[in-house]
Amino acid sequence: MRDALGSVQSILVLGGGSDIAAATCELLAADRCRTVILAGRDPDAMEPTAQRLRAAGVTTVETVRFDADAPESHAEVIDGVFSHHSDIDVVMVAFGILGNQDELSADPAAAARLVGTNFSGAVSAALAVVPHLRRQAHGTLVFMSSVAGERVRADNFVYGSTKAGLDAFAQGLGDSLAGSGASVMVVRPGFVRTSMTAHMEDGPMATTAEAVAADIIAGLRSGAHTVWSPAKLRPVFMVLRHLPRPLWRKVAAAR
Ligand SMILES: NC(=O)c1ccc[n+]([C@@H]2O[C@H](COP(=O)([O-])OP(=O)(O)OC[C@H]3O[C@@H](n4cnc5c(N)ncnc54)[C@H](OP(=O)(O)O)[C@@H]3O)[C@@H](O)[C@H]2O)c1
Repeated sequence: MRDALGSVQSILVLGGGSDIAAATCELLAADRCRTVILAGRDPDAMEPTAQRLRAAGVTTVETVRFDADAPESHAEVIDGVFSHHSDIDVVMVAFGILGNQDELSADPAAAARLVGTNFSGAVSAALAVVPHLRRQAHGTLVFMSSVAGERVRADNFVYGSTKAGLDAFAQGLGDSLAGSGASVMVVRPGFVRTSMTAHMEDGPMATTAEAVAADIIAGLRSGAHTVWSPAKLRPVFMVLRHLPRPLWRKVAAAR
């Protein structure tokens, strides 16, 4: 349960190796968070982040094996976490794969696998979390969406479509939780300099994992249902979303 000042006391990260999630946990640690569970494919790879969080004062840091591509295992993994930690304030759905559009276009099976990770994996994991948040009657599911799903571009339309689907799922799930005490927060970053984008030139309004983390924490504090990061992307995409298709193609190609 959040403390009397509204600070998050505990977080489960699905995709515990994510740079944005690590930055978020480090900021939460500075704000008196006491429990972090990092769930990802390779617990050893998450250990450096776990050590940094312990050094930052988080008293309980655990790593758990979790694979978004194995939906049949999600309920067992998540039930296991909640059975050891009866109360979790935030569950962050942070995993994702960007992929390369040209390679995905040439390999339909790989495109379907990426959709499975980014969308089906998130649906399965989130639905396994929901009964626990309902039982607690509190807790926020944070979904890492993207502006790439707000208006899908030709140069990454497989990834963008997974974020569009994830965003829609998250919004509907949030509405279905109204009155339960549990909630959903959708995060829509633009281009963030992380491992995911290390091979790319900066996109427009590029930002850092730390800046996105600060926006996430502010959103959690204010009870926001949607967080744009940086915030100026919201008015920008209100316009871009409604551009006629020929104009949008030109704008997207020029970025
Ligand atoms: N960076 C950006 O520009 C940007 C912008 C908007 C939205 N986002 C979204 O923000 C989220 C975090 O991204 P990030 O920038 O922090 O990237 P990141 O550091 O590359 O983190 C992505 C994480 O997803 C994990 N993952 C991939 N497939 C998985 C699977 N099958 N099961 C479990 N975990 C899996 C990866 O784990 P491994 O270490 O095992 O590979 C990695 O830790 C993603 O959903 C991303 O789409 C990122």
